[in-house]
Amino acid sequence: MSKIEIKNVYKIFGENPEKILPMVQKGATKEEILEETGHTIGLDNVSINVEEGETFVCMGLSGSGKSTLIRHINRLIDPTSGQVSVEGTNVMELNEKNLIDFRRHRMSMVFQRFGLFPHKTVIQNVGYGLEVQGKKIDERNKIAMEKIEAVGLNGFEHQYPNQLSGGMQQRVGLARALATNTSIMLMDEAFSALDPLIRSDMQKQLIDLQAQLKKTIVFITHDLDESLRLGDHIGILNDGKLVQVGTPIDIIMNPADDYVSAFVKDVNRAKVIKAKIIMVSANKFNGSKNINTIKVNEDSFIDEFLPKVCLTQATIEVVDKSGNIKGYITDKELSTALTKNHSNGVFKSQK
Ligand SMILES: Nc1ncnc2c1ncn2[C@@H]1O[C@H](COP(=O)(O)OP(=O)(O)OP(=O)(O)O)[C@@H](O)[C@H]1O
Ligand SMILES: [Mg+2]
Repeated sequence: MSKIEIKNVYKIFGENPEKILPMVQKGATKEEILEETGHTIGLDNVSINVEEGETFVCMGLSGSGKSTLIRHINRLIDPTSGQVSVEGTNVMELNEKNLIDFRRHRMSMVFQRFGLFPHKTVIQNVGYGLEVQGKKIDERNKIAMEKIEAVGLNGFEHQYPNQLSGGMQQRVGLARALATNTSIMLMDEAFSALDPLIRSDMQKQLIDLQAQLKKTIVFITHDLDESLRLGDHIGILNDGKLVQVGTPIDIIMNPADDYVSAFVKDVNRAKVIKAKIIMVSANKFNGSKNINTIKVNEDSFIDEFLPKVCLTQATIEVVDKSGNIKGYITDKELSTALTKNHSNGVFKSQK
């Protein structure tokens, strides 16, 4: 059983979605449906499984259905047809009380526009979800301070949101989501309002946190680089349809259609591909190792270690946080990842 399962979900917006559903199921396009019936297709037969501990990124252009999809997970939206289950619970079967409980304890959400309370300080904002859960002030503050530290905001705990930059406010949003200690985090365009350098910092911070916390994250973005950097798997939406699901390498090497190809065309691979994605697992490696070796963390991007390797021609040992060797990367893997097109699955997910 996957942590989150979305099965054959259709969402049609308008007066009478049920009446329109058969037309959609017969293959009418979003454009046709809008023109002929005035209804809007939000999601068109979408199925995804999100596994425990992974970051699943949902990507697509504006209006492709990303927010509609994520809102089904905590049932802010009911599907016109199809099933949504979270940790084995069918969300459509929750009564009002259980639904409130489910939202408070099972998942947290981070939004694009921070969603902080302007009249509460940083520590009060971060502790808010705990307050709702009924935790006492001392415990709230203790946990809130831990999370404030985790996102690098110590010293700012008694400031108000309007005293912070956008990037700092987003860190508060992230700390608040971490504080409730839910195993699922839903992030809708969480970094999209940040300027590029700060955004890249936040991505790195999320990757670092995730290496320790192993939450199940559904992350929404319209940015391909961000998807590739963060996602273990990526689902690409176009006009409410899921056009491709795959690992970053699957998406780069084998784009499913022109829509995905258009996204992938100009990607800077060194910046978005992680060591763990291209390594050959230690137990499968039978290539020749150089005497020189360089240790590289499994979550590093190629551009972070490429310069060192080029100079020394070393073999790369890919290690986890505790220093255990997970795999190896030689020139061959590097050059395939950086230069080869549509490689017939050479790098199909090595999970
Ligand atoms: N409440 C609603 N009523 C009517 N139509 C809606 C509603 N919410 C979304 N839609 C439509 O459903 C489609 C998908 O919208 P959605 O907000 O999920 O897109 P998105 O991918 O999140 O876009 P963005 O990147 O701009 O946030 C759009 O065509 C939108 O117009
Ligand atoms: Mg949206």
